[in-house]
Amino acid sequence: GLSASSCQVKQDCIGCGQCVLQCPTRCLMIKNNKRVYISSENCSLCGHCFAICPVGAIEIFGQSAEQLKLDLSNVNDVENIIAYRRSIRKYEPDFLSDQIIDELIQNLKYSPQIQNPERSKILLLRRNVMDEIGMIIASEMANQFPKLPQQQNQLDIVFRGAPHCLVIVCHEKEEEDDGIIALTQFELLAQSKGIGTFWAGMLKIQGNKSEQIKNRLGLSQQMSYISGCVGFGKPALKYKRSVGRIAYHIDIVE
Ligand SMILES: Cc1cc2nc3c(=O)[nH]c(=O)nc-3n(C[C@H](O)[C@H](O)[C@H](O)COP(=O)(O)O)c2cc1C
Ligand code: SF4
Ligand code: SF4
Repeated sequence: GLSASSCQVKQDCIGCGQCVLQCPTRCLMIKNNKRVYISSENCSLCGHCFAICPVGAIEIFGQSAEQLKLDLSNVNDVENIIAYRRSIRKYEPDFLSDQIIDELIQNLKYSPQIQNPERSKILLLRRNVMDEIGMIIASEMANQFPKLPQQQNQLDIVFRGAPHCLVIVCHEKEEEDDGIIALTQFELLAQSKGIGTFWAGMLKIQGNKSEQIKNRLGLSQQMSYISGCVGFGKPALKYKRSVGRIAYHIDIVE
């Protein structure tokens, strides 16, 4: 079954700590400066420890790192981009040039969309706005997660230190698909060019509840539903391999 025991650390661990830093739910810890242990039940089985370990010491769903070597020769094939795209949660502080960002975004005019292309509006957040909105989100969610304001201040949980964030908005929830598809294609395109990305889901969830956030984004009454948000920038880490995942079972309907 799916449990934390589906992700395990083997004897080969050299205690480098890279997996500890990258674990999004902070459930890895180093004991006695040597081996790493999975320390809680919070493991989401995302596979990032598996993907980053320099010596392939993590096993997930019974798959070893040996079985999933990165084939760099084809890294730009769509198939490989899907497999090797990772949510990046550590960025260089440098901003990408406006030209690079514009080229990435302009490709989205080719993405699938229901007839009216004016269903969606694209926003690019400057980092100062991300700082402000990150703190608004953290304080608005503080009754649910009391430590969030302090964590946001220190670690930027909301935007993961990304220098940029792309937000797509639409009129109402029923129209969100175009934006989600466009952001999915944006993510793959960006990652094919070595740019890191991650879905800033907290902004979508809280932004769609908060007048203060909508105001800061400058959303109008009519165009006020956030379809999705993707943070991006130059990654400050490199994964060694893809993640281990379990195969889908396909139900044939006939
Ligand atoms: C809709 C959506 C929202 C997400 N929101 C966040 C987020 O707010 N913060 C974050 O660090 N990761 C977020 N993620 C990334 C997931 O945690 C990540 O996809 C998962 O752990 C698997 O890792 P991978 O993307 O590297 O395959 C989000 C992913 C999706 C699809
Ligand atoms: S699979 Fe993901 S959540 Fe689980 S220990 Fe590894 S990095 Fe952490
Ligand atoms: S990345 Fe690998 S070697 Fe480094 S601490 Fe984690 S499991 Fe051990």
